[in-house]
Amino acid sequence: MCTLESERLILRPPRPGDIAGMIVWLGDYSVSKNLSRVPHPYNEEDAENFVAGIGPRREGRHVFSILRKEDGVFVGGIGLHEDGAGFEFGYWLGKPFWGQGFATEAAHRLMRFAFEDLGLAEVHAGWFHDNPASGHVLAKLGARHNGSSMRESRARGAKVLCHEMLLTRADFLRKRPPSEGVSRSDRQKLMA
Ligand SMILES: CC(C)(COP(=O)(O)OP(=O)(O)OC[C@H]1O[C@@H](n2cnc3c(N)ncnc32)[C@H](O)[C@@H]1OP(=O)(O)O)[C@@H](O)C(=O)NCCC(=O)NCCS
Repeated sequence: MCTLESERLILRPPRPGDIAGMIVWLGDYSVSKNLSRVPHPYNEEDAENFVAGIGPRREGRHVFSILRKEDGVFVGGIGLHEDGAGFEFGYWLGKPFWGQGFATEAAHRLMRFAFEDLGLAEVHAGWFHDNPASGHVLAKLGARHNGSSMRESRARGAKVLCHEMLLTRADFLRKRPPSEGVSRSDRQKLMA
């Protein structure tokens, strides 16, 4: 699996050295309650199983740890995986790192990977109704509301209203700032 880089972040495959950070950041209920598959409490075994389960390379599953470039600190996770409805992506950050635009930056980089490197036409993601910051991240990428349903939150032990968002390659490219070095003709090609 590859390593991706953005202005302030590095996205690379998870390693055993990330486990200590995962336990602290994902052990925080304000993080896990907004995710569908992370239990609460979150312990060492959960983190170890997650890292071990990633394997050297699994088709249709692209999982990354997010590190701050300036000091290499592990700040969160992001991933894209194939499910019955196409490709779904999700992300989280440890609470001390919220509010600095990191989720938007990491998701943006992952979307470039999805659309440019993997050649996907669209991806989807869901956000729980009481987590508007994530809804905002998705809207900033160009994602559009595509229905709502009740979805399990493992940490809450309950189903929660979840808004499904669809991001197409064309919508993503439309939102993308021209500063990213994609020429107008390349943009038109990608949108075709
Ligand atoms: C959701 C989460 C990833 C956001 O990370 P982040 O790095 O703080 O996000 P960003 O700073 O890139 O963007 C957040 C945006 O939401 C906005 N926002 C924050 N709180 C908000 C609120 N209560 N209502 C509406 N918008 C809000 C911010 O202002 C920002 O928008 P802006 O850049 O236009 O100002 C982070 O809070 C988190 O990890 N939460 C727990 C796990 C989770 O929710 N994962 C997503 C599951 S779908």
